[in-house]
Amino acid sequence: MLSWDDYEDTPTSSPADQAVVGAAVQQTLEAQEAKAAAEREAALRAIAAKEAEAQAAQQAAAQQAAAEAQAAQQAAQQAAESAPAQTVAPVDDEPVSTERVTVDQKAMINCRADLNQLVPFKYEWAWQKYLDGCANHWMPQEVNMTSDIALWKSEDGLSDDERTIVKRSLGFFSTADSLVANNLVLAIYRLITNPECRQYLLRQAFEEAIHTHAYQYCIESLGMDEGEIFNMYHEVPTVAEKASWALKYTKEINDPGFTTGTVDTDKTLLKNLIAYYCVLEGIFFYCGFTQILSMGRRNKMTGTSEQFQYILRDESMHVNFGIDVINQIKLENPHLWDEEMQSAARSMILEGTTLEVGYARDTMPRGVLGMNANMMEEYLQFIANRRLAQIGLAEQYPGVKNPFPWMSEIMDLKKEKNFFETRVTDYQTGGALTWD
Ligand SMILES: [Fe+2]
Ligand SMILES: [Fe+2]
Repeated sequence: MLSWDDYEDTPTSSPADQAVVGAAVQQTLEAQEAKAAAEREAALRAIAAKEAEAQAAQQAAAQQAAAEAQAAQQAAQQAAESAPAQTVAPVDDEPVSTERVTVDQKAMINCRADLNQLVPFKYEWAWQKYLDGCANHWMPQEVNMTSDIALWKSEDGLSDDERTIVKRSLGFFSTADSLVANNLVLAIYRLITNPECRQYLLRQAFEEAIHTHAYQYCIESLGMDEGEIFNMYHEVPTVAEKASWALKYTKEINDPGFTTGTVDTDKTLLKNLIAYYCVLEGIFFYCGFTQILSMGRRNKMTGTSEQFQYILRDESMHVNFGIDVINQIKLENPHLWDEEMQSAARSMILEGTTLEVGYARDTMPRGVLGMNANMMEEYLQFIANRRLAQIGLAEQYPGVKNPFPWMSEIMDLKKEKNFFETRVTDYQTGGALTWD
């Protein structure tokens, strides 16, 4: 390349010499310019090549990353499809073990053993109650309602107070048995993790359906206003209070996501069992049962009374089963039966008694059928003492007596001893017959 020194070092003496020199310089300059241009072009080509190379590398990297991301996504999808569902499943929805179940593995709640194997029995009493329930089978249509229909339709067959009692009883029970059935099937059943108890629960659920059928059969036979009767649990305050008291104990465990397994959730289940077996079936049924059965003893509404007699026999077994379940859960989980739980159970039974006494006063504003609200209050306190004692709590109504001893006779009724001289004497089904 030329520098200022090159020019200054070149001497020029004549125009000819200057022309020669000018041409030479011109040639040199042109050559140098061509060379520089070639060098620039080469440099630009090198840069372009490098840029192209970098761009290609970038594209390849992007393609590689995209391919890897796609592969990862496919792998994740395959894994999700082949993996077991990660839902909160109830105990019995978990993979079933192929192991043979032993008695020691069985438990009333939170059991992990296969629930599809009925035997070997751990709770013989539950199986026996299932057998007894089946042997007591009956259907509402078998009861003759002719005299009830004639009495109900006659102008002066029943007093106004007696008519109120019939209507309120059918109004309360027709929906109460549905509450019990729904609580059993939708809430309790999946949480009681023992197959022989579940067998009884299935029998009980069918009996509750028969009871609801019996009330519907009475309502239809007597030609009552079905809308009025079936809506009493919304519209009549003393009926509604009992229904809503029970429903609040169904609410939490009725949630499909509810599971037992912690102290709190196990206690929630225990409270539901106490609410339904000790209070709803164990106390709330007793004023209405006593009133209707008292009517039957006076030869009034004998068909309805006979239906109630069969229902009471079933119900007393339901209560006994529930109390056995509650006590078994306490035995297997003594930490649940702490002071807080005992206090809650006691309060629930006392609250239930208060509500039932309110119902008695509402349905018996004066004496009727040889009884009155004060006698019923004492009877309900007598029943409440019994429920408290049955689950291991101290009686809360000291000195109360049973003013209706005939109720015990009806509950203890055996088929061979017939209170109403009706078909109950000989009602037996296949499993209970002797073939001699
Ligand atoms: Fe029932
Ligand atoms: Fe029941």
